[in-house]
Amino acid sequence: MALTGLENNDLKLIIFGGKGGVGKTSCAIATALALSENFKTLLISTDPAHSVSDCLEQQIGFKVQEVAGHKNLAAIEVVADEALSRFKTEHQSELKKLLETSTDLDNEDIDEVLTLSIPGIDEIMSFKTIIDFIEEGQYDKYVVDTAPTGHALRLISSPKLLDAWIKVAARMRWKYRYMITSFSGTYKQDEVDAFLLSLKKTVKRIENLLRDKTRCEFIPVCIPEAMAIMETGRLLADLGTSGIIAQQIIVNNVMVSEDCSFCKRRKAGQLKYIQQISEIFNHLNKVEVPLFAEEIKGLEALTQLRMCLFGDKPINQ
Ligand SMILES: Nc1ncnc2c1ncn2[C@@H]1O[C@H](COP(=O)(O)OP(=O)(O)OP(=O)(O)O)[C@@H](O)[C@H]1O
Ligand SMILES: [Mg+2]
Repeated sequence: MALTGLENNDLKLIIFGGKGGVGKTSCAIATALALSENFKTLLISTDPAHSVSDCLEQQIGFKVQEVAGHKNLAAIEVVADEALSRFKTEHQSELKKLLETSTDLDNEDIDEVLTLSIPGIDEIMSFKTIIDFIEEGQYDKYVVDTAPTGHALRLISSPKLLDAWIKVAARMRWKYRYMITSFSGTYKQDEVDAFLLSLKKTVKRIENLLRDKTRCEFIPVCIPEAMAIMETGRLLADLGTSGIIAQQIIVNNVMVSEDCSFCKRRKAGQLKYIQQISEIFNHLNKVEVPLFAEEIKGLEALTQLRMCLFGDKPINQ
């Protein structure tokens, strides 16, 4: 089987996730390469380990840049730390005013609180960067490589976390608003209210996109090993609670060779896990990728992987 449906014009965002080391980055890049044959594609790495640069053998940074030799493919690293420090710089004054007007904290305490992180905010800010790109609409497809499982989950559950924080902040504001109205009879919305409202809107935009099966697809990558299968099961269950339903799964590192006794044993050992994957994830389209003799690094190997994922025909528009 090959990956299907990624050419649908409405589908914009494709996110790869899974346990550490199972082939997420390789599959994300090979998919982006395949899509870029017919679609303007942006490959987005949210993994601070810079592995997209290593695998593509080209330096990718915090600015969008063309992937050499592929005019339809660009890449960028969107890293939470970077997005968070930009957010803090941009909204320092609103955050400070929120605390000044809604708490009894003195200036020193406020400065200390501001150094603490708001739960989910760093991931939300990376997601905001991604959704801003999608809404600008310069590309047809956005392919996201995530760091291992925990990170993909944090990324995807960040709207919930931030939403809870916004609710608390809004409650604090409500008390302030009540006080002002009692004293002066009126209340005029200020920049803190506008800031909370815009955060709330960002959370909604992200949630709506993630839950929309026609615009967003999450593709889990797994390998035929017990721990990877268990972790994928948990990942898919957690995604399900956020309303994100996967439709296909990549089973990577499948042993095909039987040339030596070691290969035969490896292949036999994998069989029961491949069977298990078919049973546990029977609702998903299963795409098997063979274990290559060499690591997947550079365009030649990525092209081989692309052919395993999609067959050798270009993906049609
Ligand atoms: N089918 C394959 N055959 C051989 N090597 C592979 C295959 N798929 C991936 N690899 C190699 O396995 C290693 C891990 O792959 P990759 O970096 O894509 O995984 P990852 O899931 O992104 O890892 P991480 O969780 O660290 O981000 C790399 O060295 C890659 O070249
Ligand atoms: Mg990776």
